[in-house]
Amino acid sequence: MSPRHAPWAENADFAVGLRPIPEAAWLEGGEADPAARKDPLLAGRPQTVWGETEGSRPAQAEAMAMAAAALGRAIDPQGRPPLLAAARRVPDDLCLMEKRDGAWRLTALSLCAPTFFSAEAVLGLSLAELHGPVDGFAERFLARVERLFEGLRPGLVLERRNWTVVNSGETFTPDAAPVRAQIPAIDPADASQALFLRVERQTLRRLPETGAALFTIRVWLDRLQVLAEDSARLAAFARAWRGAAPAFRNYKRFALYDPLVEAFLRAEGESYSVNGPRSPS
Ligand code: HEM
Repeated sequence: MSPRHAPWAENADFAVGLRPIPEAAWLEGGEADPAARKDPLLAGRPQTVWGETEGSRPAQAEAMAMAAAALGRAIDPQGRPPLLAAARRVPDDLCLMEKRDGAWRLTALSLCAPTFFSAEAVLGLSLAELHGPVDGFAERFLARVERLFEGLRPGLVLERRNWTVVNSGETFTPDAAPVRAQIPAIDPADASQALFLRVERQTLRRLPETGAALFTIRVWLDRLQVLAEDSARLAAFARAWRGAAPAFRNYKRFALYDPLVEAFLRAEGESYSVNGPRSPS
Protein backbone atom coordinates (compact mmCIF):
# COMPACT_ATOMS: atom_id res chain seq x y z
CA MET A 1 0.00 0.00 0.00
CA SER A 2 1.38 3.39 -0.88
CA PRO A 3 1.22 6.09 1.78
CA ARG A 4 -1.77 8.40 1.30
CA HIS A 5 0.43 11.49 1.47
CA ALA A 6 4.13 11.77 0.60
CA PRO A 7 5.07 15.39 1.42
CA TRP A 8 8.77 14.52 1.75
CA ALA A 9 8.80 14.14 -2.02
CA GLU A 10 7.97 17.85 -2.24
CA ASN A 11 9.68 19.46 0.68
CA ALA A 12 12.43 19.02 3.23
CA ASP A 13 12.24 22.49 4.72
CA PHE A 14 9.62 24.52 6.57
CA ALA A 15 7.09 25.90 4.13
CA VAL A 16 3.66 27.53 4.10
CA GLY A 17 2.65 25.12 1.34
CA LEU A 18 -1.08 25.88 1.46
CA ARG A 19 -3.00 25.01 -1.69
CA PRO A 20 -6.69 25.13 -2.56
CA ILE A 21 -8.61 21.87 -2.69
CA PRO A 22 -12.23 21.18 -3.72
CA GLU A 23 -14.71 21.79 -0.92
CA ALA A 24 -15.89 18.17 -1.22
CA ALA A 25 -12.36 17.02 -0.33
CA TRP A 26 -12.26 19.00 2.93
CA LEU A 27 -12.33 16.06 5.37
CA GLU A 28 -10.85 12.73 4.35
CA GLY A 29 -13.00 10.55 6.60
CA GLY A 30 -12.35 6.83 6.73
CA GLU A 31 -12.45 6.20 10.48
CA ALA A 32 -15.61 4.33 11.42
CA ASP A 33 -16.00 5.72 14.94
CA PRO A 34 -13.67 8.58 15.87
CA ALA A 35 -15.46 9.00 19.21
CA ALA A 36 -14.37 5.50 20.25
CA ARG A 37 -10.75 6.70 20.04
CA LYS A 38 -11.32 10.21 21.35
CA ASP A 39 -13.69 9.63 24.29
CA PRO A 40 -11.24 7.61 26.43
CA LEU A 41 -8.61 10.31 25.91
CA LEU A 42 -11.08 12.97 26.94
CA ALA A 43 -11.97 10.99 30.07
CA GLY A 44 -8.37 10.24 31.00
CA ARG A 45 -6.53 13.39 29.89
CA PRO A 46 -9.17 16.14 29.58
CA GLN A 47 -6.77 19.09 29.74
CA THR A 48 -4.40 17.52 27.23
CA VAL A 49 -7.00 16.96 24.52
CA TRP A 50 -9.60 19.70 24.98
CA GLY A 51 -9.75 23.41 25.72
CA GLU A 52 -12.08 26.34 25.09
CA THR A 53 -11.97 30.02 25.93
CA GLU A 54 -14.86 32.24 26.95
CA GLY A 55 -16.74 33.67 24.01
CA SER A 56 -15.79 30.89 21.58
CA ARG A 57 -19.17 29.11 21.59
CA PRO A 58 -20.71 30.98 18.62
CA ALA A 59 -17.75 30.06 16.36
CA GLN A 60 -17.77 26.54 17.82
CA ALA A 61 -21.43 26.22 16.84
CA GLU A 62 -20.64 27.40 13.33
CA ALA A 63 -17.79 24.88 13.07
CA MET A 64 -20.15 22.12 14.22
CA ALA A 65 -22.70 23.11 11.58
CA MET A 66 -20.00 23.07 8.90
CA ALA A 67 -18.85 19.60 9.96
CA ALA A 68 -22.45 18.36 10.01
CA ALA A 69 -23.01 19.72 6.49
CA ALA A 70 -19.85 17.98 5.27
CA LEU A 71 -20.90 14.71 6.89
CA GLY A 72 -24.41 15.06 5.54
CA ARG A 73 -25.99 14.41 8.93
CA ALA A 74 -26.89 16.45 11.98
CA ILE A 75 -24.67 16.46 15.05
CA ASP A 76 -26.43 16.41 18.41
CA PRO A 77 -24.06 17.94 20.96
CA GLN A 78 -25.87 16.25 23.89
CA GLY A 79 -24.69 18.97 26.23
CA ARG A 80 -21.09 18.97 24.98
CA PRO A 81 -19.35 22.11 23.71
CA PRO A 82 -20.15 22.21 19.96
CA LEU A 83 -16.55 21.96 18.72
CA LEU A 84 -16.02 18.89 20.87
CA ALA A 85 -19.27 17.37 19.59
CA ALA A 86 -18.05 17.95 16.03
CA ALA A 87 -14.60 16.50 16.76
CA ARG A 88 -16.17 13.26 18.04
CA ARG A 89 -17.70 12.73 14.60
CA VAL A 90 -14.58 13.26 12.47
CA PRO A 91 -11.10 11.70 12.54
CA ASP A 92 -9.46 15.14 12.44
CA ASP A 93 -8.49 17.37 15.32
CA LEU A 94 -10.32 20.70 15.19
CA CYS A 95 -8.74 24.03 16.11
CA LEU A 96 -10.67 27.28 16.14
CA MET A 97 -8.78 30.51 15.47
CA GLU A 98 -10.42 33.87 16.23
CA LYS A 99 -9.16 37.41 16.09
CA ARG A 100 -8.82 38.72 19.64
CA ASP A 101 -7.21 42.05 20.50
CA GLY A 102 -5.69 42.31 17.03
CA ALA A 103 -4.14 38.83 16.89
CA TRP A 104 -5.37 35.47 15.55
CA ARG A 105 -5.66 33.24 18.62
CA LEU A 106 -6.53 29.64 19.31
CA THR A 107 -9.86 30.02 21.12
CA ALA A 108 -10.94 26.35 21.28
CA LEU A 109 -9.47 23.00 20.26
CA SER A 110 -9.97 19.28 20.33
CA LEU A 111 -6.51 17.69 20.00
CA CYS A 112 -6.39 13.89 20.19
CA ALA A 113 -3.45 13.30 17.83
CA PRO A 114 -0.88 15.81 19.03
CA THR A 115 2.67 15.71 17.74
CA PHE A 116 4.43 16.68 20.95
CA PHE A 117 2.13 19.41 22.30
CA SER A 118 -1.09 19.65 24.28
CA ALA A 119 -4.33 21.63 24.25
CA GLU A 120 -3.44 23.00 27.66
CA ALA A 121 -0.11 24.35 26.41
CA VAL A 122 -1.50 26.15 23.36
CA LEU A 123 -5.03 27.34 24.21
CA GLY A 124 -5.29 31.11 23.78
CA LEU A 125 -1.97 31.49 21.95
CA SER A 126 -1.52 33.71 18.91
CA LEU A 127 -0.08 32.51 15.59
CA ALA A 128 3.25 34.02 16.60
CA GLU A 129 3.23 32.34 20.01
CA LEU A 130 2.10 28.97 18.64
CA HIS A 131 5.06 28.96 16.29
CA GLY A 132 7.65 30.25 18.75
CA PRO A 133 9.46 26.87 18.77
CA VAL A 134 9.63 26.78 14.95
CA ASP A 135 13.03 28.21 14.05
CA GLY A 136 12.68 31.12 11.60
CA PHE A 137 8.86 31.16 11.57
CA ALA A 138 8.58 34.79 12.71
CA GLU A 139 10.99 36.04 10.04
CA ARG A 140 10.02 33.77 7.15
CA PHE A 141 6.31 33.06 7.50
CA LEU A 142 4.39 34.96 10.17
CA ALA A 143 3.40 38.04 8.14
CA ARG A 144 2.33 35.86 5.20
CA VAL A 145 0.27 33.52 7.39
CA GLU A 146 -1.40 36.44 9.19
CA ARG A 147 -2.33 37.99 5.83
CA LEU A 148 -3.71 34.66 4.77
CA PHE A 149 -5.94 34.47 7.84
CA GLU A 150 -7.19 38.01 7.13
CA GLY A 151 -7.98 37.34 3.48
CA LEU A 152 -9.39 33.82 3.69
CA ARG A 153 -12.45 33.70 1.40
CA PRO A 154 -15.52 31.75 2.56
CA GLY A 155 -15.81 28.58 0.48
CA LEU A 156 -12.06 28.34 -0.11
CA VAL A 157 -10.49 25.26 1.48
CA LEU A 158 -6.70 25.24 1.85
CA GLU A 159 -4.58 22.17 2.54
CA ARG A 160 -0.99 21.67 3.67
CA ARG A 161 1.00 18.64 4.80
CA ASN A 162 4.08 18.28 6.96
CA TRP A 163 6.17 15.24 7.77
CA THR A 164 8.60 13.83 10.24
CA VAL A 165 10.00 10.49 11.39
CA VAL A 166 9.16 9.16 14.85
CA ASN A 167 9.60 5.92 16.76
CA SER A 168 5.95 5.61 17.73
CA GLY A 169 2.93 4.28 15.89
CA GLU A 170 0.54 6.03 18.30
CA THR A 171 -1.48 9.00 17.14
CA PHE A 172 -1.73 10.35 20.71
CA THR A 173 1.77 11.61 21.53
CA PRO A 174 1.54 14.80 23.61
CA ASP A 175 5.02 14.36 25.12
CA ALA A 176 8.22 13.99 23.17
CA ALA A 177 10.42 12.84 26.07
CA PRO A 178 8.99 9.32 26.68
CA VAL A 179 8.99 8.62 22.94
CA ARG A 180 12.56 9.83 22.38
CA ALA A 181 13.78 7.94 25.46
CA GLN A 182 13.05 4.69 23.59
CA ILE A 183 15.28 5.50 20.61
CA PRO A 184 18.54 4.02 21.98
CA ALA A 185 16.85 0.66 22.54
CA ILE A 186 16.02 0.26 18.84
CA ASP A 187 18.15 -2.23 16.93
CA PRO A 188 19.11 -0.63 13.57
CA ALA A 189 18.10 -3.91 11.91
CA ASP A 190 14.53 -3.25 13.09
CA ALA A 191 14.34 0.36 11.87
CA SER A 192 11.87 -0.41 9.07
CA GLN A 193 9.32 -1.60 11.65
CA ALA A 194 10.19 0.61 14.63
CA LEU A 195 10.23 3.94 12.81
CA PHE A 196 7.20 5.66 11.32
CA LEU A 197 6.60 8.39 8.80
CA ARG A 198 4.28 10.80 10.57
CA VAL A 199 2.35 13.11 8.26
CA GLU A 200 -0.04 15.80 9.36
CA ARG A 201 -2.59 16.79 6.74
CA GLN A 202 -4.00 20.15 7.73
CA THR A 203 -6.79 22.28 6.32
CA LEU A 204 -7.88 25.85 6.84
CA ARG A 205 -11.14 27.57 6.03
CA ARG A 206 -13.20 30.57 7.05
CA LEU A 207 -16.38 30.32 9.11
CA PRO A 208 -18.32 33.05 7.27
CA GLU A 209 -20.80 34.09 9.98
CA THR A 210 -18.46 34.55 12.93
CA GLY A 211 -15.38 35.33 10.82
CA ALA A 212 -13.40 32.67 12.70
CA ALA A 213 -11.03 30.26 10.94
CA LEU A 214 -11.20 26.50 11.35
CA PHE A 215 -7.89 24.62 11.21
CA THR A 216 -7.98 20.83 11.04
CA ILE A 217 -5.18 18.34 11.66
CA ARG A 218 -5.23 14.70 10.57
CA VAL A 219 -2.32 12.43 11.39
CA TRP A 220 -1.28 9.59 9.09
CA LEU A 221 1.28 7.02 10.19
CA ASP A 222 3.16 4.51 8.03
CA ARG A 223 6.04 2.26 8.98
CA LEU A 224 9.28 3.18 7.24
CA GLN A 225 8.92 -0.22 5.57
CA VAL A 226 6.31 1.28 3.21
CA LEU A 227 9.16 3.12 1.44
CA ALA A 228 10.90 -0.12 0.54
CA GLU A 229 8.00 -1.25 -1.64
CA ASP A 230 8.84 1.18 -4.43
CA SER A 231 12.32 2.28 -5.50
CA ALA A 232 11.25 5.76 -6.67
CA ARG A 233 9.45 6.32 -3.36
CA LEU A 234 12.52 5.18 -1.42
CA ALA A 235 14.81 7.41 -3.49
CA ALA A 236 12.56 10.44 -2.93
CA PHE A 237 12.61 9.87 0.81
CA ALA A 238 16.40 9.34 0.87
CA ARG A 239 16.86 12.63 -0.98
CA ALA A 240 14.60 14.45 1.48
CA TRP A 241 16.20 12.89 4.54
CA ARG A 242 19.75 13.58 3.45
CA GLY A 243 19.04 16.99 1.96
CA ALA A 244 16.75 18.37 4.69
CA ALA A 245 17.39 21.98 5.67
CA PRO A 246 19.44 22.35 8.89
CA ALA A 247 16.70 24.16 10.89
CA PHE A 248 14.11 21.60 9.78
CA ARG A 249 16.41 18.68 10.76
CA ASN A 250 17.15 20.28 14.07
CA TYR A 251 13.52 21.04 14.95
CA LYS A 252 12.49 17.46 14.12
CA ARG A 253 15.51 15.95 15.90
CA PHE A 254 16.60 14.00 12.84
CA ALA A 255 20.07 13.52 14.35
CA LEU A 256 18.52 11.15 16.91
CA TYR A 257 17.20 8.99 14.07
CA ASP A 258 20.11 9.27 11.62
CA PRO A 259 21.83 5.96 12.48
CA LEU A 260 18.53 4.08 12.28
CA VAL A 261 17.29 5.71 9.08
CA GLU A 262 20.69 5.32 7.42
CA ALA A 263 20.79 1.64 8.42
CA PHE A 264 17.36 1.22 6.82
CA LEU A 265 18.33 3.08 3.65
CA ARG A 266 21.56 1.11 3.28
CA ALA A 267 19.75 -2.18 3.85
CA GLU A 268 17.37 -1.22 1.05
CA GLY A 269 20.20 -0.33 -1.31
CA GLU A 270 20.15 3.46 -0.98
CA SER A 271 23.85 3.95 -0.46
CA TYR A 272 24.97 7.45 0.40
CA SER A 273 26.65 9.63 -2.15
CA VAL A 274 27.44 13.34 -2.09
CA ASN A 275 25.52 13.56 -5.36
CA GLY A 276 22.41 12.20 -3.71
CA PRO A 277 21.19 8.65 -3.46
CA ARG A 278 22.05 6.09 -6.09
CA SER A 279 19.44 5.97 -8.82
CA PRO A 280 17.62 2.64 -9.06
CA SER A 281 19.19 0.33 -11.61
C1 HEM B 1 -2.30 27.82 8.28
C2 HEM B 1 -1.11 28.32 8.34
C3 HEM B 1 -0.01 27.66 9.12
C4 HEM B 1 1.23 27.41 8.67
C5 HEM B 1 1.80 27.76 7.32
C6 HEM B 1 1.94 26.72 9.75
C7 HEM B 1 3.24 26.30 9.68
C8 HEM B 1 3.88 25.54 10.62
C9 HEM B 1 5.19 24.97 10.47
C10 HEM B 1 6.09 25.16 9.25
C11 HEM B 1 5.45 24.28 11.58
C12 HEM B 1 6.71 23.43 11.85
C13 HEM B 1 6.37 21.97 11.67
C14 HEM B 1 6.07 21.64 10.24
O1 HEM B 1 4.91 21.87 9.81
O2 HEM B 1 6.95 21.23 9.53
C15 HEM B 1 4.33 24.42 12.46
C16 HEM B 1 4.24 23.89 13.71
C17 HEM B 1 3.18 24.10 14.56
N1 HEM B 1 2.01 24.74 14.25
FE1 HEM B 1 1.57 25.69 12.55
N2 HEM B 1 1.11 26.58 10.80
C18 HEM B 1 -0.11 27.14 10.47
C19 HEM B 1 -1.21 27.22 11.26
C20 HEM B 1 -1.29 26.76 12.55
C21 HEM B 1 -2.45 26.87 13.37
C22 HEM B 1 -3.80 27.48 12.98
C23 HEM B 1 -2.14 26.30 14.54
C24 HEM B 1 -3.07 26.17 15.69
C25 HEM B 1 -3.28 25.03 16.28
C26 HEM B 1 -0.76 25.84 14.46
C27 HEM B 1 -0.06 25.20 15.47
C28 HEM B 1 1.21 24.71 15.36
C29 HEM B 1 1.89 24.04 16.45
C30 HEM B 1 1.36 23.81 17.85
C31 HEM B 1 3.14 23.66 15.94
C32 HEM B 1 4.23 22.93 16.73
C33 HEM B 1 5.07 23.94 17.47
C34 HEM B 1 5.94 23.25 18.49
O3 HEM B 1 6.87 22.54 18.08
O4 HEM B 1 5.68 23.43 19.67
N3 HEM B 1 -0.28 26.12 13.23
N4 HEM B 1 3.39 25.19 11.85
